[in-house]
Amino acid sequence: MKHSAESLRQMKSTTPIPMLTAYTAPIARSLEKVGIPVLLVGDSVGMVEMGFDSTRHVTLEHMEYHVGAVRRGAPNTHIIGDLPYDSDRDPETALRSAQRLLEAGADSVKLEGPKYDVIRHLVSSGIAVVGHTGLTPQTATSFKQVGRDQQDAARVVEEAERIAEAGAFMIVLEHIPDALADTITRTVPVPTIGIGAGSACDGQVLVINDAIGMGEKWPPFSRQYAYVGKAIEDAAAEYAHQVRARTF
Ligand code: KIV
Repeated sequence: MKHSAESLRQMKSTTPIPMLTAYTAPIARSLEKVGIPVLLVGDSVGMVEMGFDSTRHVTLEHMEYHVGAVRRGAPNTHIIGDLPYDSDRDPETALRSAQRLLEAGADSVKLEGPKYDVIRHLVSSGIAVVGHTGLTPQTATSFKQVGRDQQDAARVVEEAERIAEAGAFMIVLEHIPDALADTITRTVPVPTIGIGAGSACDGQVLVINDAIGMGEKWPPFSRQYAYVGKAIEDAAAEYAHQVRARTF
């Protein structure tokens, strides 16, 4: 059964939500096969798959391409499409961008930061929205944990509350102290999905490349459940050896 925004919202405080990012059809197929209920086609694709040094280089066209691929791989899974940098700069632009991601196959969209007017406009136009606060990579100047001092923590709490009030059905909390994520989770009426935010959240999202160990380095908060990068290197080395030895 494919989850709706409403069925995901109802999992608040009752059923922990495992979310992963996905960018390609074969990965999406595997994740659907094991019952991951919700996939995020994140603009992290720019850094972990496209070789950019920032998510700011990701365009709406890139996102449409990847949302389409993930939808073809996981036809029965709720897919969140990330609105890339600047595609949500004002309510009308965001609406057109969100509609394009829905047409590409997304069920809902995610956007970063305190854009309450944008969230309200999308929701009142019938689009399900996921908010995102804490570390917001599109505008961050570093990847350090945020919300560490009292003033910044209060800002993050207020942002989460206002994102929920504006109508988001779920909020991603990125790289904030566990205790702060716990407070927010107990405060807001919608599920919180942590990434580097501890286990008190209503669920967790990890970047798939980090979780399966594909890449050179992974954020300290992300566990590796496999080392796929090493498996690829071993397979390619063995293949090259066989060709050179004419044993293929
Ligand atoms: O783009 C992304 O993958 C994200 C997650 C890190 C939450 O926004």
